[in-house]
Amino acid sequence: MRIGIIGTGGIARAHANAYKQLEHVEVVGAADVIPGKAAEFVQSLGLQDARAFDDHRELLALDLDGVSICTPNVTHYRTSIDALEAGKHVLVEKPLSVTLQEAVEMTETSARTGRMLTVGFQPRYDPNMHILKDIVQSGQLGNVYYVETGGGRRRGMPGGTFIRKELAGAGALADIGCYSLDLAMNALGYPKPVTVSAYASNHFGTNPLYHPEASKFEVEDFGVALVRFDNGIVLNFKISWAMHMDTLGATMFLGTDAGLKVTPAGKGPWSGVWDGGIGSMTLYHDIRGHHTESPIPLKEHNVNRFFEKVRDFVDAIREGRGAPIPASQIVRNQAVIDGILRSAELKREVQIELPANL
Ligand SMILES: NC(=O)c1ccc[n+]([C@@H]2O[C@H](COP(=O)([O-])OP(=O)(O)OC[C@H]3O[C@@H](n4cnc5c(N)ncnc54)[C@H](O)[C@@H]3O)[C@@H](O)[C@H]2O)c1
Repeated sequence: MRIGIIGTGGIARAHANAYKQLEHVEVVGAADVIPGKAAEFVQSLGLQDARAFDDHRELLALDLDGVSICTPNVTHYRTSIDALEAGKHVLVEKPLSVTLQEAVEMTETSARTGRMLTVGFQPRYDPNMHILKDIVQSGQLGNVYYVETGGGRRRGMPGGTFIRKELAGAGALADIGCYSLDLAMNALGYPKPVTVSAYASNHFGTNPLYHPEASKFEVEDFGVALVRFDNGIVLNFKISWAMHMDTLGATMFLGTDAGLKVTPAGKGPWSGVWDGGIGSMTLYHDIRGHHTESPIPLKEHNVNRFFEKVRDFVDAIREGRGAPIPASQIVRNQAVIDGILRSAELKREVQIELPANL
């Protein structure tokens, strides 16, 4: 299987290292807009036979089965569309896009070209994510009517391309918010969001006391939203790169028969957000009228999620099956982020307009 990598920065190395471990898979080319960077990338990773380009369109002219897109958020749209149109299957890093309109177009291009567009949400490969989804989908909670998710770092703001609006498009929402939305929305079966009322701010990122690149900080470091879905479920979502607080609380699913509390696995100052695995899961229910709390036994976290996401992409190509984490689903995640940004700017609730087939 012949693979190309577009964008050769930090996360591209995780992709390349995963491909290198897979049998019958070869990274045959890489592209980066910074002249010489792709060449340095293939050399430093020992990909002697791989070709290097400064323009992704030249890479896409090669005979390739799939490409990993590892560029900053705002370029996911253009590079994904170009790759799909060139007949390649695509694993695009998160978030899917910056705007909802882009996500819709990317999803439609994938459907039209018959090439898969899958999104790099590696937390999905924590085995406990399947347990969480099974419990929520099993009906054990009764009718789920309210979900709370998100996460907060007390201080954990990235810099560089992540804080410049023209490259990242958004801040904490796009960087880590998309993971918590995926955790909750995936467990619920990705219901269609219909309205959002949100607030976003950047009091920490723009303050030199807290961020060394404060003068360049152009995105949100905090966001909170109430999201309504078409099946009546309400989601209370909050995300924070920085705050004067230890935690924004656990993820909770409230149902008419039981409730489920879920906490993240990570430890340390950058944890407390859903970019890792599940640390604990507890079922709150009544047994013969007694309030009962049942810890759910968890599986060990001994999977390399970054490797699994690349392997699943390769297996999906090989087996001719659909995208493991399809853009046609994640477009609804992007719709929430898009709605939050619009609502926060307008300071009022906004409708989410998705095409009928999405
Ligand atoms: N899944 C994860 O855990 C994870 C972790 C980090 C980053 N990411 C995502 O990966 C993406 C890249 O992040 P990063 O940390 O590697 O950033 P980075 O800035 O280290 O690397 C991005 C690279 O893309 C190149 N680039 C920009 N535009 C390009 C274009 N049009 N064609 C080719 N190359 C282009 C840049 O020159 C740079 O070398 C982001 O979308 C980010 O959200 C995901």
